Amino acid sequence: MSSDNTTKVPSGRHSFLPVNHNFSNKDIISLEQFLPSDMEVLFSLTKEMKAIVDNGAISNILTGKIVTLLFYEPSSRTFGSFVSAVKKLGGETLDIINPQQFSSVAKGETFQDTIRVFETYSDCIVIRHFREGSAESAAKVANKPIINAGDGVGEHPTQALLDLYTIFEKHNNLENLIGVISGDLLNGRTVHSLLKGLSLYKNNTVYLLSPKELKLSARDLHKLKRKIKLIEITSENEIPDNAHFWYWTRIQKERFIVEGEYNKVKNSFVLSRKLLNKKGNSKLILMHPLPRVGEIETDIDEDPRAVYLTKQIKNGLYVRMALLTLVLSRET
Ligand code: NCD
Repeated sequence: MSSDNTTKVPSGRHSFLPVNHNFSNKDIISLEQFLPSDMEVLFSLTKEMKAIVDNGAISNILTGKIVTLLFYEPSSRTFGSFVSAVKKLGGETLDIINPQQFSSVAKGETFQDTIRVFETYSDCIVIRHFREGSAESAAKVANKPIINAGDGVGEHPTQALLDLYTIFEKHNNLENLIGVISGDLLNGRTVHSLLKGLSLYKNNTVYLLSPKELKLSARDLHKLKRKIKLIEITSENEIPDNAHFWYWTRIQKERFIVEGEYNKVKNSFVLSRKLLNKKGNSKLILMHPLPRVGEIETDIDEDPRAVYLTKQIKNGLYVRMALLTLVLSRET
C-alpha cells in the first residue's frame, strides 16, 4: 500500500510494515516483516483452512472480493494455488499472465500505471516479476495490498511460509532444528525467504550445500549469520546425518547470462537413493519448492519422508488461503 496511507512506514530502507499481529490490508513483501508470533496466527488459521478443504466446503470469506494475479514470470504451483485459494474462499481472480505480451505493457505502459489500473479492478494484487524489488515498488504505488509471489532473485515469502508450516507440522517446532539447503543459493528466492524465516527462531543450524559459484551472496550470509548458524559445504559427504529437513532446489537456469556457465553447474547435487541411505535418518523430511529438473531422482518420490509432491503442495493451498483471509478480511 502506498505511503500516503497513514499506516505506512514514512521512511527507512524498506517501505513495508512489520505484520505485528495485524495482517489486515498489509503488503506481504518479505519474511523480514514477520515475527514468530505472526507465524502462530497464520499457522493456526492454516489449520482451519485445511479443515475447510478436507470437508470439501466452499467458504464465503472472500465473497465479493477480486484478487488480481499479475504474473510476469512462469508459474505452476504459486499461480494455481492462489487461484484455488481465492475460489475456495468464495472470491474471484483476475488472471493477467505474461502481461509483457498480452496487456498494455506490450505497448509501453509503465509498471506503475499497470499496478494502478489493476488495483482499481480488484481488492489485492498478487505479483510475480523477474526484477528484484518489483513487489516493493508495486506496494509503493498501490493503495490495495500487494502480495509478493516471487520477485526475481529476491524473495518468495508465501513459499517460505508454506515451507515453514510444513517443517512445523512435522517437527512441532521451528527451533533447535538442523537443516540442509542445497542448490542455487545465490539466485534461489525461495531459499532467501526460507533462511530469513528460520532465522527468526532460536538455535537453528543450516548446512548450505552449493557449487562455489552459487553460494549465498556475501551480503546475505553476513546479515543472516547474526541470527542463525550457517555452515557452507561443497560436497554431499559433509551433510550431517542428524538433519530434520533437506530442502533441495534447482539451479536457476533463467538467471544465467551465459548458458555454458549453467551447463557447468546444472547437475551439481542430485538427491539419490544412495545419498539418502547414506545420510538420511528416520525423522527427516525431504522438501523441494519445485519445479525439479533432475536434482531429485524420481525413485525417492515414494519414500515416506518425501513431502515435495504431497504435503508441501497441499500446504501451499492452505497457507495461501489463510494469508488471503488475514490480509483481506480479518482484523487480528
Ligand atoms: C520457485 C520459484 O518460482 O521461485 N517455484 C515456486 O514458486 N514453487 C522455485 C523455482 O522456480 O525454482
